[in-house]
Amino acid sequence: MDTTGILFLNDIEVDEKVVFVRVDFNVPLDGDKVTDDTRIDAALPTIKNIMDRGGKLILASHLGRPKGKKNKHLKMEIVAQRLAEKLEAEVIVPEEIEEGIIKTLVDGLKPGQIILLENLRFNPGEKAGDLDFSKLLASLADVYINDAFGVAHRKHASVYQIIRHFRRGSFGAGLLIEKEIHELSRLAKPNRPFVAVMGGSKVSDKIATIKALFERVDTLLIGGAMAYTFLKAQDLPVGESMVEDEQLEVANEVLKYARNKRKNVYFPVDHIVADNMDGDGLETVDVIPAGKAAFDIGPKTVEKYSEIIAGAKSIFWNGPLGVFEKDAFSNGTFKIAEAIASADGFTVVGGGDSAAAVAQAGIDERIDHVSTGGGASMQFVEGKLLPGIEALRPNHPFDK
Ligand code: 3PG
Repeated sequence: MDTTGILFLNDIEVDEKVVFVRVDFNVPLDGDKVTDDTRIDAALPTIKNIMDRGGKLILASHLGRPKGKKNKHLKMEIVAQRLAEKLEAEVIVPEEIEEGIIKTLVDGLKPGQIILLENLRFNPGEKAGDLDFSKLLASLADVYINDAFGVAHRKHASVYQIIRHFRRGSFGAGLLIEKEIHELSRLAKPNRPFVAVMGGSKVSDKIATIKALFERVDTLLIGGAMAYTFLKAQDLPVGESMVEDEQLEVANEVLKYARNKRKNVYFPVDHIVADNMDGDGLETVDVIPAGKAAFDIGPKTVEKYSEIIAGAKSIFWNGPLGVFEKDAFSNGTFKIAEAIASADGFTVVGGGDSAAAVAQAGIDERIDHVSTGGGASMQFVEGKLLPGIEALRPNHPFDK
């Protein structure tokens, strides 16, 4: 990707300045516990850089999808505790994002103290890309740094509109975004064969991406619940497996498109099925029987996919191949993770869930790049422009 005109953190003066850093702390939670802190770790280099250079930090993120309302289960305090331990710093989370309150807090900040704003998505203006909300956020700081790669594909207030309120020289990209651009750009001119492994549950989330991916990849391996919508679209039995019926037509279109483009698309040839997600009546089958649902790919599929992955020169993986959070259905995802880690080709894993699977399997060190972005990494690999990065270019023509 051409980064002409974009300033990066080290190009920007931060000493004695109030620096607003948009991070992506949208971490997976189990109740009030953070179950994977990859995204917190990924933001640490930028945070430490600014602290070491004498900047006063205001961090801001979304957490989950609270739909513009306060939600006691998605408060930033959960993340703040983890961040404070990692930084050995005091992380203050003000209850409200109100100019006077934040300014008073910033004035009183001592070295070793930082502010983390409450969940940005408690305010409907964040997702709506509201100008007034972006103005309020911008009014809190002298410098804006976007380091939230995971949300760079959204035109949200704190990611996109906020930038219009800063002067050239006082906004730019953080170290994580810099690294993501550098690594993911290697897939723009990939060594071939280029294999993408796509999992996850929702066809509707990924269908456009799959079509666009065909422009770049040679082979697509499909797993996760998404696979069953594709199987049903081909009139294959899916039992009680999760299917998005309203996407069947689109799935067929994608299949036709792949045939026309002469791309290879693979679907699971065997499955781990059960009566329910608790794993009652667990079986390995080639054909999904009536009354049972598939929750993971079977061993023959693992073998076939692993063989294709081993022969690839570039590999991109997004989305788990089964319900890997449950032991009974984790084999497919972890075996494919292992196959990717063992591959000689250049390997990229994108997406919160896939990144969590890789971390859980303890193989993250053996992957060339674990992206913090889910949708963002897919769109980047497709070759789409990400608004949160494009807006960092000089004289960007903002919407509205
Ligand atoms: C992600 O989890 O991919 C990012 O944090 C973006 O979250 P969103 O899909 O809710 O915008």
